[in-house]
Amino acid sequence: MKRLENRTVLITGGAKGGGAASARLFVSEGARVFIADRDGDAASALKDELGQAGFEIGAVCADVSTVQGAGLAYEAACAHLGRVDVLFNHAGIILVKPFLDCTLAEWDELMDNNAKSAFLMTRLVLPQMLERGKGTLIFTSTTGVRAVTHLEALYCASKAAMHQMARAIAVEYRDQGIRCNLICPSFVRTQHGEHEIAQLRNYGVFASESDVNAMQGRICEPEEVAEVALFLASDASSFVNGAEIFVDNTFTAV
Ligand SMILES: NC(=O)c1ccc[n+]([C@@H]2O[C@H](COP(=O)([O-])OP(=O)(O)OC[C@H]3O[C@@H](n4cnc5c(N)ncnc54)[C@H](O)[C@@H]3O)[C@@H](O)[C@H]2O)c1
Repeated sequence: MKRLENRTVLITGGAKGGGAASARLFVSEGARVFIADRDGDAASALKDELGQAGFEIGAVCADVSTVQGAGLAYEAACAHLGRVDVLFNHAGIILVKPFLDCTLAEWDELMDNNAKSAFLMTRLVLPQMLERGKGTLIFTSTTGVRAVTHLEALYCASKAAMHQMARAIAVEYRDQGIRCNLICPSFVRTQHGEHEIAQLRNYGVFASESDVNAMQGRICEPEEVAEVALFLASDASSFVNGAEIFVDNTFTAV
């Protein structure tokens, strides 16, 4: 029995990195997957790649940090999937910058992409989950909510906002069949992670290969994030709710 047989999954930021790795893993486990990503070319490329492997996924180019984009993502997902059993709020962005150089526009950009996007998507999807009395929400957070990285004040603040919102949703809707959990990765080998490490190096902050290895043994692979997402999306995690799963190989344990 495949672990996500007959389950429908909407992944925001699903075209690249950990979201794409999850889409690949989820379809192989029997899920019907829809991805919403503002990088339309990457979304089409993943759709083609999976199509050639015999899997059909749906995709839409949408910026889920806006009311219109989130609405488009939700409508397109419902048209393709019929219903959304699992919402994976994975889309997010990074900013590496000294705190005093950060602008109000950057504050808004980080909050919009990392916190408001998850709010917009969740409030669209949750009502139909409540009608069915069952639904699974997964949010991608970061180790930065526990052990902050230098020069990432706005990133950590925006992730912390979405992080506590997710835990509050778990508490509020537990008795109506909703599970809501968090994945908190350290450095992952994706465009986001590689850009972050390069920026830290530019500023002369740790992040050499040996620094990363000292903190977490080695870089995390996107497939290792996807395996945790699979666990949280499946019934194997039926009693896991409001949890923060650190995918960091001791980064936050030290
Ligand atoms: N890579 C890391 O080291 C790392 C560590 C901790 C947490 N994270 C979190 O993982 C998530 C994504 O990172 P990744 O590592 O998979 O990176 P990635 O850059 O490979 O993928 C992110 C995807 O999200 C999409 N996206 C971003 N903002 C969007 C928006 N507003 N609307 C639609 N799509 C949007 C991008 O186009 C991209 O395809 C983020 O939430 C990030 O905070 C990453």
